This record gives sequence, C-alpha cells and structure tokens, in this order.
Amino acid sequence: MNKGTKLYEGKAKIIYETKDKNLVIQHFKDDATAFNNLKKSKIEGKGVLNNRISEYILSNLAQCGIKTHLVKRLNMREQLIRKAEIFPIEFIVRNIATGSLTKRLGIPEGTLLEKPLLEYCYKKDELNDPLISKEHIYSFGWATEKEIESIDKTTLRINDILTGLFRAIGIKLVDFKIEYGKAWNKDKEIKEIVLADEISPDTCRLWDSKTEKKLDKDRFRKDLGNIIQAYQEVARRLGIMPEETNISEVNFGKTIPIKFKKK
Ligand code: TMP
Ligand code: ASP
Repeated sequence: MNKGTKLYEGKAKIIYETKDKNLVIQHFKDDATAFNNLKKSKIEGKGVLNNRISEYILSNLAQCGIKTHLVKRLNMREQLIRKAEIFPIEFIVRNIATGSLTKRLGIPEGTLLEKPLLEYCYKKDELNDPLISKEHIYSFGWATEKEIESIDKTTLRINDILTGLFRAIGIKLVDFKIEYGKAWNKDKEIKEIVLADEISPDTCRLWDSKTEKKLDKDRFRKDLGNIIQAYQEVARRLGIMPEETNISEVNFGKTIPIKFKKK
C-alpha cells in the first residue's frame, strides 16, 4: 500500500492518505512529549516498539470482539488503519490512583480503586486537554448519549481484557487513555464506532507486579531513565520483540537532550 499525502501530524504519529479513501497509514515516530509538548525528546526505537505493541494489543482486542481501526501492520513503523472521524475526547480508565488524579483530588498515590474509574478529557492542546463531564460532551455535541453509553461499555470491557493480558505477564495495568472514532463499514453501509489511535506504554501506566517498577512513559515524564529498555521489557514479556529489525544495533542508552519550550 503506497503512502499518499500527509493528512495530519501529531506529537507521536503521522497519518498519510492511501488510494482507498476509507484507509490511511499510521506512522509511529520516535518523538516523545509530555506536559502538552513542554518536554520533548527523540527516543530511538520508540516508534518501532509502539507500532508492534499497539498492533499486538489491538489484535487481541479484535479477537475478543472489540471493533478497532487496525487493518494490518505494514512495516516497522507503519500500520494500515481504517480512516476514522475521531471523537474529540480522551477516555481514561484508572484502576490505581496516580498521576493527575492524585494531584487533582489528593487521593494517596497507589490507592487501589474499588472499581475502574472512567474520566473524559476534551482533546484540545491549546487548553491542555481539560477534564470534562458527560454533560459537557452532550451539551457541546462532542458525542451523543447513545454513543457514550456504548463507548463506556466497550472501554470497561477493554480494561477487563487488558488487565488480564498484562497480569499474565507480571504487569499491573494502572491506568490508560484510549480514543474512538467513527469509521465507514462498507458491508453495512453505515459508520460504526471503532477503537482508534494506539495502546502502548505511551498511553498506559504499566507497573511491574512485584516491584512496581514503571514500564511506561512515566520514565520519560519523571526523568527516570531507561525508557526504551522499559518499552522493550513490555514487548519482550508480550512475546513480540521485533525480530526482523535492527533494534539491537540502535544505541538505546543515548537519547537526544530534552528541550524545554521557552515560556
Ligand atoms: P494522567 O494521570 O496524567 O491524567 O494520565 C492518565 C492516563 O492517560 C495515563 O495512562 C497516561 C495517559 N495519557 C495519555 O495517553 N496522553 C495524555 O496526553 C495524558 C495527559 C495522559
Ligand atoms: N501526550 C501529552 C503531551 O504530549 C502528555 C502526556 O502524555 O503526558 O504532552
């Protein structure tokens, strides 16, 4: 599948057109950002690992009946995906309190939540993706009540499936962020809701079950070092370390210095 014009470039991925108007190519970059682009770096090999990890996770979800945008992985950094109109909402699930939840509400770090907590953020970089309620979503027409009802159900099911998948490899799924979009279903001649974007250590908090060592993007956010080693560890435990790549030849220890944006 040949790459056409660039349609969109985000912080970690690029979307390209294809000859088929319903399909696009998702390219995973090595760029890492945190705190809404305030902290930036290139982490060699991150895009390759996230491409593989996300492919693995979305394929597993698809096997469980979750509709996703993934068609197939094309190469080291690219996936063929269904073109989807993304809801301007980040859907966050929390199983253990950490991150912005502890800061915002003073909930002690590491508190085990009695049941998964769903949160919604408005996808708007200029506003720092603010936390919103369902009422905001309905008021401003970002999704309908029917759509949110169905997305919430799917999101909780995804949490159940992924909690089990990670538990089996000695990892606690602490929290994660997912996105959904509406994609054309040619057979049914309707648009349907599909899981979109990616699920990877960039978008999840993953702690080693025994040691609680962080195996996710918090290593970058909090300057803990060994970022790529942590992502590789997740890929290794999932059994998907990319065999055909020259990943072992890349100097993972070296990351390009972090640049801070001038205020
Ligand atoms: P938070 O505690 O910073 O709100 O993050 C909650 C979860 O969402 C965590 O797994 C990281 C993920 N996340 C993203 O994927 N993208 C983002 O822009 C943010 C803020 C969080
Ligand atoms: N993705 C967000 C950013 O680029 C924040 C984060 O993941 O912490 O700034």
